[in-house]
Amino acid sequence: MSRRLLVTHALPYANGPLHLGHMLGYIQTDIWVRAQRMMGNEVYFVAADDAHGTPIMLAAEKAGLSPEAFIEGIRASHEADFAAFHFSYDNYYTTHSDENRELASLIYTRLRDSGYIAKRSIQQLFDPDKLMFLPDRYIKGTCPKCGTPDQYGDNCENCGATYAPTDLINPYSVVSGATPVLRDSEHYFFELGKFETLLRDWFGGKLTHGAPVANPGVVAKLKEWLDGGLKDWDISRDAPYFGFPIPDAPGKFFYVWLDAPVGYLASFLNLCNKAGLKFDDFLAPDSDAEMHHFIGKDIINFHGLFWPAMLHGAKLRTPTALHVNGYLTVNGAKMSKSRGTFIQARTYLDAGLHPEFLRYYFAAMLSDTPVDVDLDLKAFEERVNSHLIGKWVNIASRTAGFVHKFFDGRLAAQFSEEQNELWRVLISHYEGVPALYQSGEFAEAMRRFVLIADLVNGHIAAKAPWAMAKNEDQREELHQVCSFSLAAFRLLGGLLKPVLPVTVEAAEQFLAAPIADFDSACATLHNHTIRAFEPLLSRIDPKHIEAMVEASKESMGTTPEPESAAKNPAKKDSQPMTENTAAATQDTATIGIDDFAKLDLRVGKVLACEFVDGSDKLLRFELDAGSLGKRQIFSGIRAAYAEPEKLIGRNVVFIANLAPRKMRFGLSEGMILSAGDGGSDLFLLDADNGAKPGATVR
Ligand code: MSP
Ligand code: ZN
Repeated sequence: MSRRLLVTHALPYANGPLHLGHMLGYIQTDIWVRAQRMMGNEVYFVAADDAHGTPIMLAAEKAGLSPEAFIEGIRASHEADFAAFHFSYDNYYTTHSDENRELASLIYTRLRDSGYIAKRSIQQLFDPDKLMFLPDRYIKGTCPKCGTPDQYGDNCENCGATYAPTDLINPYSVVSGATPVLRDSEHYFFELGKFETLLRDWFGGKLTHGAPVANPGVVAKLKEWLDGGLKDWDISRDAPYFGFPIPDAPGKFFYVWLDAPVGYLASFLNLCNKAGLKFDDFLAPDSDAEMHHFIGKDIINFHGLFWPAMLHGAKLRTPTALHVNGYLTVNGAKMSKSRGTFIQARTYLDAGLHPEFLRYYFAAMLSDTPVDVDLDLKAFEERVNSHLIGKWVNIASRTAGFVHKFFDGRLAAQFSEEQNELWRVLISHYEGVPALYQSGEFAEAMRRFVLIADLVNGHIAAKAPWAMAKNEDQREELHQVCSFSLAAFRLLGGLLKPVLPVTVEAAEQFLAAPIADFDSACATLHNHTIRAFEPLLSRIDPKHIEAMVEASKESMGTTPEPESAAKNPAKKDSQPMTENTAAATQDTATIGIDDFAKLDLRVGKVLACEFVDGSDKLLRFELDAGSLGKRQIFSGIRAAYAEPEKLIGRNVVFIANLAPRKMRFGLSEGMILSAGDGGSDLFLLDADNGAKPGATVR
């Protein structure tokens, strides 16, 4: 029986261009949607720009535009990017729409009338120049713990302390520079605590016929939050604010995160009105349609706590499932502008890279767990070239020509016995593929693709059709090898179609055999006539990747930092799902002055220097380090200094606060600095005469 599905992905903020981080979860969604359609399900895929909130209001002001004009421009750029990457939306809309205003108001009034909204006065910092309340992230000042200046209102980047913005020393408004003052304001709260039972039922699959609502790790995280106690959620903001006014509450607006997920429903309602669908069929509490949300790991709490509670409280259905993706890193590290790895979707396209290549790479990396995905640019190039061109397109390019040359474009009437056997093997690997798509195991599906392709290529290599073609009496065998290969090429097209929709469509054209669904790709194409083969894809030229990285460096400063907190104060109350492995994702291209200050660099006068028995690499130094006393340090520079005693009396530079290291020859208490590539190419750094032993180097 065919299922009915409403599918969404997280709505991008309308304040900047899409980057490859966004594209990870978005491409994942489009692949899933296309696979669902190929399984014969009735799918509605909707999304929108998330157009409200303080950062967008201020960005518009900075651009000298009205917020409405500003968000329209961004939306046009987002839609152009999505089209270029072949997204198959049924509707793409904006949260700044009449439908969304009405739905947000409806949901709010239902919640209010059922007693889920509380009002109370809170104190908040106010910008007396700009006449607006300041989100925590728009207040900076000196850290109350360690005294570092210019720290954000909620935590210190130097010492990691968390605090309230009112604790900052010498606070100032990031917007105007003015000193903020405390003011009272009445706020509206959604009483999440009243939904504990509902949420436990939902996590437990009781509302979804036992089907899990998310990956077990995600559910565990949600339960952990719930066990920690559910706090009321502040859903109002004071004017000036770009958003929807709260009904019967003059000067109060819905916080952007209230109307953002409602934007999913508004986009769908807009589609319903255009396409004659019934909104209630999908949203009524007893609907048997499914509602799936694809989101990044940083916004799990909004979708796994507030959202199901809001829906239930407003007498609407709860989500069927959350599909959570991890974060994208590039070349093993957090995307970085200085390294040129903070790559916009548009920059990728402009560099001449095929949009479907990124779709394939992501597919080959994605599973149903929210683990971070690395875009390794070298692996990207190699995998695409080897898999898509080397293993797939080549099947057709090596065989189609013979079918036209000798057989008038017509495929053989049957396979050989051996081929029938091999075909059954291919089909047995192919059969599980729809289920893999369904469960989000795209990487496993792509491994099946490689497995099947390798079997086919093995068959072609063993039969060597190019050799057979030279031999008149091998015509029938040649015919069968080529026909078998082309049918297998099409089978692989069926497997790849959700990932490479446009390329596979071109393959369907060439084969004159459309692939409507997964099953129809299994046809053996006996006696079928194909059209002329045109090269479907060409290999990635590494120059394009280099150009993309260079262009990403050039756009530095013209675009907002990825996920910078100032861009997105909303995120401060969201807890990331998994800790980033600090070393792997640190931006190492630049360090702050604080990092440099951690090094205790000193001048040391060489008192003794000698070879070390049993080591052909080390010299043993004894340094006079002034107030630090004497230091023994082993340094691996023996190959560069044949006469160690000549170093006595020199003023070298060493790291004094490196943890001491026990070596076979004794304790090494620091590290002496030298320049060069190693081996005999090493040169000690000196301080000029007059520098005192123990003097700090800065
Ligand atoms: N507007 C909110 C979502 C509202 S949904 C009702 C938002 N917008 S966002 O533009 O910051 O992020 C949109 C999506 O992109 C989120 O799912 C987020 O997790 C994802 N990503 C943003 N940067 C990302 C990476 N570097 N890597 C992977 N996904 C990332 O949050
Ligand atoms: Zn601090």
